[in-house]
Amino acid sequence: MAEPAPTADVPATTADVPATTADVPLATKAVRVFRHGGPEELRYDDYPLDPLGPSDVLVRVDTASVSGWDLKYRSGGLSGARHPGRKPVVLPQQLGREASGIVVAAGAAVTRFAEGDRVVAVVHPENPYSPETLRGLGNLSGGIEIPGHQALGSYAAYLVRDENLWLPVPDGVDLEQAAVTLWPYGTSHRLLHDRLRLTLGQTLLITGASGGMGEATVRLARLMGARVAVTTRHPDKVDGLRALDPDEVVVTSDLPAAARRIREWTGGLGVDHAVDYSGDVELIRLGLDVLRLGGTLCPASGNQRQPGPLPITASDLTRLEPSVVGVRGARHRDALAALDLLARGRIRTRIAARFPLAQASEAHALLETSTDLVGRVVLKP
Ligand SMILES: NC(=O)c1ccc[n+]([C@@H]2O[C@H](COP(=O)([O-])OP(=O)(O)OC[C@H]3O[C@@H](n4cnc5c(N)ncnc54)[C@H](OP(=O)(O)O)[C@@H]3O)[C@@H](O)[C@H]2O)c1
Repeated sequence: MAEPAPTADVPATTADVPATTADVPLATKAVRVFRHGGPEELRYDDYPLDPLGPSDVLVRVDTASVSGWDLKYRSGGLSGARHPGRKPVVLPQQLGREASGIVVAAGAAVTRFAEGDRVVAVVHPENPYSPETLRGLGNLSGGIEIPGHQALGSYAAYLVRDENLWLPVPDGVDLEQAAVTLWPYGTSHRLLHDRLRLTLGQTLLITGASGGMGEATVRLARLMGARVAVTTRHPDKVDGLRALDPDEVVVTSDLPAAARRIREWTGGLGVDHAVDYSGDVELIRLGLDVLRLGGTLCPASGNQRQPGPLPITASDLTRLEPSVVGVRGARHRDALAALDLLARGRIRTRIAARFPLAQASEAHALLETSTDLVGRVVLKP
């Protein structure tokens, strides 16, 4: 599969270059946030579309996703958070990091796509001139705006974006599956290969595994030959989690009992790696408490639910000699690896609920309050 040209090589968007198709809409149905708050702050309306520039494609959206990040953006949980080298997130914001769809028009200088092509949005664009990209860390590159973060996201019927912000969807791959693959599987690929260096037969604990990140990490770790245990606070999620095919599911309503169960599962040794997607201090601590001597802990939730430092002491670091690592998104090569696995039928994602775009508020409310939901929630414009 052709790798897209670097984003920073793209000429500036201009309005005066004609598209290959005359019927380019001037506005689109979309969902934006003008004020932080609950799901009711998502505003479904008509919004102007950017004019189609020479290197842009106009895409009719098939699927956009709702993620844990979207809830944090909407509620204001990420206001003030800065990613070094990147602009802050400002309101109004059009949410949505993931999307797939069909190209309906292409700017005059577009070389990679034509009308009718099936495409999936690049979730982690890389700036080729950033020092981090040159160091092999394109996921951390600065000087770039991420759609759904600083730039317009995918909660829309139509999107105008540079051609380098799209990848072709391989033949035979479902558009909905493509939309929900690159972010969680790309990030999990980077996490397991590069941050944890997971090897055959190792044990991995995932706390807070019922969202897209948990599922992707379970499936990828199993493909890599690891043994995987997942946790949930809700007994009603156990069956849904079992369907992801982990080796063990543990309910964490009684934390000491959960820790005992996980230790038993490893024959008393403790797990080689513990990843947390919940952001809950007690679950991060659980990961450390059941870690094998010299194991690796990755608090990967992006932020912590309870303010304050990580629940780790200097004494923990000496007694247990753990490695504590972070992960922020995926490099372009991780996204391509994920798309390749999808094309070969090795991975898939459980879709838990579908909502029309107009019901984005209901989709957010479901994700926020459900006690039995396992899998992704998607929007269908
Ligand atoms: N580091 C990165 O590069 C990266 C990339 C993408 C996403 N993320 C982050 O990874 C996390 C997972 O994202 P996601 O979309 O897969 O899932 P998500 O919907 O954000 O939920 C993850 C888990 O959090 C737990 N949870 C929810 N509310 C909780 C609460 N109040 N207290 C304790 N646990 C709670 C749930 O576990 P239960 O089963 O117990 O309900 C759920 O399984 C998010 O925080 C997201 O921001 C990080």
